[in-house]
Amino acid sequence: MIAKRLKEVFESKPSWVKRQIKKTEAQALAREIRKIKSEAALEIGSASGFSSAVIYSAQAENCENPFLYAFDYSEFCYYDKSRRTGQAFEEIHPGGHNFLMKTGVISAEIERPGHVIDFAFIDADHRTPWPALDLIAIWHYLSSTAVIALHDIEMPFVSQWRDTNGARDLYRSWVGDKHRFDNALNIGFMHNIDEDRMVKSVVASLMMDWERTIAPEMLRKFDDCISRYEPHNQRLLRAAILERKNSAGIKLVRNVKKTTPKVAALPAADGRPINVI
Ligand SMILES: C[S@@+](CC[C@H](N)C(=O)[O-])C[C@H]1O[C@@H](n2cnc3c(N)ncnc32)[C@H](O)[C@@H]1O
Repeated sequence: MIAKRLKEVFESKPSWVKRQIKKTEAQALAREIRKIKSEAALEIGSASGFSSAVIYSAQAENCENPFLYAFDYSEFCYYDKSRRTGQAFEEIHPGGHNFLMKTGVISAEIERPGHVIDFAFIDADHRTPWPALDLIAIWHYLSSTAVIALHDIEMPFVSQWRDTNGARDLYRSWVGDKHRFDNALNIGFMHNIDEDRMVKSVVASLMMDWERTIAPEMLRKFDDCISRYEPHNQRLLRAAILERKNSAGIKLVRNVKKTTPKVAALPAADGRPINVI
């Protein structure tokens, strides 16, 4: 079954689809997928399935038989409960594709896919520490040369999302190679690194203030994932989570009294006093 090319994916986007990746972001994803010749990709956070259709379309230019493993917590599209999560993929690329969508799971519950993953797209909960936890959960399924794409690393610059730093924290902490495209700054591409350096990066991002409290039963599931790491890295990851797991909750100080700025007198270059507010 031949998958549609990127241009046709946009032309056949169902009218009900919204809140999907932008066109320039889709082009950036497709460019990267073609460059690394991805054949087996994984996505966390599919919603309508539009980004899945984009990823698969680019993969289909690399090989005849690509695989896309997609995961989402929600069974139905989060903004339109009359649609199934991933439904747009089937409307865009109908029939017979290797699009393996599983809903009702968080990343810690993802089982080892049937292929070694060469491209991962993380676009689920963007609040710290979720993207880092997602990466912890899937890291052992990635090839050593895999590329990890993080969506919404510019989210904190949108006023209503200012406390949504998870993808940004992880991208900025990554000590390996990484890049963005200047017309799609919201997606960060990170090149996989060895376990010690990956854990170092993830721990650095976990040490930032958390923007979500993760329920103890969920943390236990991530702890199972952590058991796959080398003992010294297990200790580092567990120590960071223990230290920061109660850090969520933005402390806003209200009713601060307005004060009149003080006028300071500083000498100008010629020694005369000038007033600075
Ligand atoms: C921004 S939408 C994804 C948009 C999609 N990638 C696109 O561009 O077409 C985020 C999705 O992540 C899912 N989600 C949120 N938190 C999640 C979590 N912790 N684990 C898995 N999925 C999650 C939501 O149900 C939602 O469908």
